[in-house]
Amino acid sequence: MNWSRFKTHFHHYADLGVSLDISRMPFPDDFLASMEPQMQHAFEAMKRLEAGAIANPDEKRMVGHYWLRAPQLAPDPAISHEITTTLAAIREFAAKVHAGGIAGPKGKFKHLLVIGIGGSALGPQLVHHALGHPRKDKLAVSFFDNTDPDGIDYVLASLRGQLARTLVVVISKSGGTAETRNGMLETIAAFRAAGLDHTKQFVAVTGAGSKLDVIARQEGWLARFAMWDWVGGRTSELSAVGLLPAALQGLDIQAMLDGAAAMDEVTRYPVTAQNPAALLALMWYFATNGRGAKDMVVLPYKDRLLLFSRYLQQLVMESIGKEFDLEGRVVNQGLAVYGNKGSTDQHAYVQQLREGVNNFFVTFIEVLKDREAKASLEVEPGVTCGDFLQGFYLGTRDALSEKDRHSITITLTDVSPRSLGMLIALYERVTGLYASLVGINAYHQPGVEAGKKAAGAVIALKLKLAAALHAAPGQSFSAEQLAAQVGTPEKAELAFKILEHLAANKGSGVKKRARSPAFASTYRSS
Ligand code: PA5
Repeated sequence: MNWSRFKTHFHHYADLGVSLDISRMPFPDDFLASMEPQMQHAFEAMKRLEAGAIANPDEKRMVGHYWLRAPQLAPDPAISHEITTTLAAIREFAAKVHAGGIAGPKGKFKHLLVIGIGGSALGPQLVHHALGHPRKDKLAVSFFDNTDPDGIDYVLASLRGQLARTLVVVISKSGGTAETRNGMLETIAAFRAAGLDHTKQFVAVTGAGSKLDVIARQEGWLARFAMWDWVGGRTSELSAVGLLPAALQGLDIQAMLDGAAAMDEVTRYPVTAQNPAALLALMWYFATNGRGAKDMVVLPYKDRLLLFSRYLQQLVMESIGKEFDLEGRVVNQGLAVYGNKGSTDQHAYVQQLREGVNNFFVTFIEVLKDREAKASLEVEPGVTCGDFLQGFYLGTRDALSEKDRHSITITLTDVSPRSLGMLIALYERVTGLYASLVGINAYHQPGVEAGKKAAGAVIALKLKLAAALHAAPGQSFSAEQLAAQVGTPEKAELAFKILEHLAANKGSGVKKRARSPAFASTYRSS
């Protein structure tokens, strides 16, 4: 890795304040040229997508997240109108909440509880963490992003005595996601227990006509914001899904949209050498052989970007991790993503990155601006904390290069609404282009749907087992016996897991008599 290679493969996008360094990816000199036909094909597919083609063939949907920050580009004036009116409604609603025109029973809202999961949580969580301020935020934000009762209790405990001043935003594109529905029901119960009418404090972000939409409409919730079928969950951060919580937090949502639009302009340009998204997609292809042969470790040297890898994990893995290609052939594609932040991770798994199995490439994210305050303390003569942070990033990068471990660096000027909008737009585009390079549909998620269905079958079995136990009071059954009793002897293992869980929880009405081996234990109605 030398200065001359750096000069060839370091790209600075002055208008964006972003740089991309791919010099430490040892692709051969003819690699970009050899990939150019595939890349041009990917640009063409992206152009059709942006023009409103059915780019998600399985679900027969358009894919329109790029229109969210450039409504004039939407293929239908009705869509442009919906985007602009929703944005105006978000702004108006947030302004009224901040001014106290929309308030809780005890005055201005001080807290915001966001309930959602996956694409309906990860973007809002990333933005909240990256751009928030403990004293300047207009509302203090917390999240439910699971159906873990203890997790729910933890968040509700932090809001104890504050529910009257808490605005609740329930986000679900489909409006039928169980985790989100459960979080909503638990919150409604907490409001009732506190003597509060939840309908005066609840807001829905969901698709028109969804289960959630129907509940919100019938109960007369405070407000409803639209989520459209042409926006995918994991690319919905710049729709009402992400913009409403961010606006309520008091963040500059226009700067986020402007940053994304500016990045879109650069990454829409079909000249590979000048397009950072195309170059990144090609680096993914080079690093992984276009088959996910290596993992992508995302290492931002910035605390505020801690959640970026988690956000990217969903965006990339849910988009790229697919069994079939567009021709219906089994390909089992994927690109594993993990990481937290530097230099913290240097004291965790970076040891393995340098010396262990070489099955990854790193994407470093460097942020030039250290902090808001003008001056920094000298922790050693002439040296600040920020100097150390950069030293650790550069040192780790070199230490990895020395051992033939490859890396990319993206450099941002700062972490701001604009740069975060850019980063989100950049990776949305990279993911879409890469999906075209490897010939898969990035915009559906059959695996997620399969998990949801399987969970439904478990719940159905749980109900049968509980009913069978309660119908035979005083009688004890092993898991195997009870599974047979309800007509599904092949589900003995599932029955064992379900009964163990029931017996561990007060109020389930199931008592266990432990036996050895554990799976011979018996259960009865208590
Ligand atoms: O990206 C996706 O489509 C998924 O991760 C969804 O966002 C997630 O399943 C939540 O779905 P919904 O917003 O419909 O509740």
